[in-house]
Amino acid sequence: MCGIVGYTGPLNAGEVLLNGLSLLEYRGYDSAGIALFDDQDISVYKQIGKVKELKDRCADITDVSHCGIGHTRWATHGGVTNVNAHPHKVGKVTLIHNGIIENYHDLMERYKLASALVSDTDTEVAARVIEHYYQELQDPKAAIWKTVSELRGTFAFCVLFEDVPGVIYCIRRTSPLIAAATPNGAFAASDVTALLEYTREFFVLPEDTLAVLCPEGAFLEDAAGNAVAPEMLTVDWDVESAKKGGYPWFMLKEINEQPRALQDTLLPRIENGLPDFTEEQIPDDFLKRCKQVCIVACGTAMYAGMVAKALIEPLLRIPVSVHVASEFHFSNPLVDDDTLMLVISQSGETIDTLDALRLGKEMGATIVSVVNVKGSTIARESDYVLYTHAGPEQAVASTKAYTVQIATLYLLGCRMAMVRGKMSEEDAREFVQNLLQASEYEQQVIEENNDAIQEIARHIIQFDDAYFIGRGLDYSFSLEGALKLKEISYIHAEAYAAGELKHGTIALIEEGTPVIAIATQEPVYRELLSNAIEVKSRGAYVILITKKGAHAPKKAYDVQLTIPDVDDRFTGFPTAVCLQLLAYHASNEKGLDVDKPRNLAKSVTVR
Ligand code: M6R
Repeated sequence: MCGIVGYTGPLNAGEVLLNGLSLLEYRGYDSAGIALFDDQDISVYKQIGKVKELKDRCADITDVSHCGIGHTRWATHGGVTNVNAHPHKVGKVTLIHNGIIENYHDLMERYKLASALVSDTDTEVAARVIEHYYQELQDPKAAIWKTVSELRGTFAFCVLFEDVPGVIYCIRRTSPLIAAATPNGAFAASDVTALLEYTREFFVLPEDTLAVLCPEGAFLEDAAGNAVAPEMLTVDWDVESAKKGGYPWFMLKEINEQPRALQDTLLPRIENGLPDFTEEQIPDDFLKRCKQVCIVACGTAMYAGMVAKALIEPLLRIPVSVHVASEFHFSNPLVDDDTLMLVISQSGETIDTLDALRLGKEMGATIVSVVNVKGSTIARESDYVLYTHAGPEQAVASTKAYTVQIATLYLLGCRMAMVRGKMSEEDAREFVQNLLQASEYEQQVIEENNDAIQEIARHIIQFDDAYFIGRGLDYSFSLEGALKLKEISYIHAEAYAAGELKHGTIALIEEGTPVIAIATQEPVYRELLSNAIEVKSRGAYVILITKKGAHAPKKAYDVQLTIPDVDDRFTGFPTAVCLQLLAYHASNEKGLDVDKPRNLAKSVTVR
């Protein structure tokens, strides 16, 4: 949940680290710090608050350093204080860490550290154990190997030793860490976003492998000291894609990028008008013979899975289940060799999702993941990967990743329906055509509805609660709409299957309570209107989302928002954009930090 960056080489390390931290800030933003080699000494600068505040604190550094490490924190162990911020310097050892050391308490007792600790962090315990072994063994590599052999939990470490200027030692277990060697020095980072200015070629540090970074390169070795060859990866993201590009917030930029992201994700997988996964080598044979589909994911990715289920299950007539990844282990899941497990994750690093993937694999499922970040752990541990091509998503609130996840799952569902004889080639072609047009529907909403949505947002921010209702596919869209609103505007928002209202929830409706009623599905349109009328007659302020041209009586709504008149199966794309804009404007109108909502981090790599 933290962002890590390390650099050694001819450039100004302070600048490289601070810029890298700004780009990684979405991973954690309660405090930040850097450590810089300065002749034989290491200086540490830490600051609670955003990276901007660390930059201000570092503004008067005059010496140019050529080697250092930096960290942006999402607090787990210990509160948000300067002392708890990373890097942690203990004797000759300076360390940054992403992850959680589960046995920190045992280590504290074993090495009698209680009275020495100055922070409340598990990281300082690790730093003190490395320092202990460094004093004993006088060898940086041996000290690190000895320490990690005693650690339980997850970690990505970058370590400096005061006696070894210009060198960064990196090692990880589960937590992400990548590295790159370039003519301009060697880099380490939590993800490639921080490196785009310098390189697009990198490697994922293999677990329990030591990387030694020096200006001449990045060298890997295993615990026995054998050299390990890195597996190089290349991304096609450019440096501009990780910047705001004139938009006030990343979230608004990313909402606007959706039409393009959808095309980029779909087009490489369409051959002769039909879905084609030859590139990913997903065998039709398995798509044809699997007996159930099991979807696991967290948050927005899980809601993308809910949309996929609503489409795929009726189409294929096999069971499709959606699991909250963090609950998967405890649900004694019904998974076997005949299960297609779809694992959805923008970052590819969400630990709960990764745990579920590993369990599913153990139980014999075939894993197909839908992932946005190349080389991420979930991608690497899957049998097959369907990369979404959304480009880097920086705002904590997921937007473009969600719509491309749905598009990818739709395409896969279509292929499965074809090979299972549930959809004719002609129908599949029509389906794919509709899917490709979804980017136009998204664009129309961006162009036509933005101002009206801003007005609605201005109205709803006066209230503490809001409800989203829908039926069928609309219900799955409403779940994501509620999550988006609550996570960035802090308005309490809940989604309900509209028919459930009268079984309890309707008691919450008061004069003016905003209710966003999604009515894009023809077979349940009348029923949904009745539900809208029920809440409006009890005082709710109803925002009704319908297709253009759909008739709704005045008594069913206060404001009507329309999306293009498209086939029911594809209304999710323009509807998602409406709901994202609503959350965006609500947050912005409240003067909040749209991209970095309180208490959250983009990539959740702790359990
Ligand atoms: O990287 P992932 O897709 O695995 O992340 C899953 C969730 O943490 C993520 O979707 C989260 O719910 C977002 N903040 C929602 O906007």
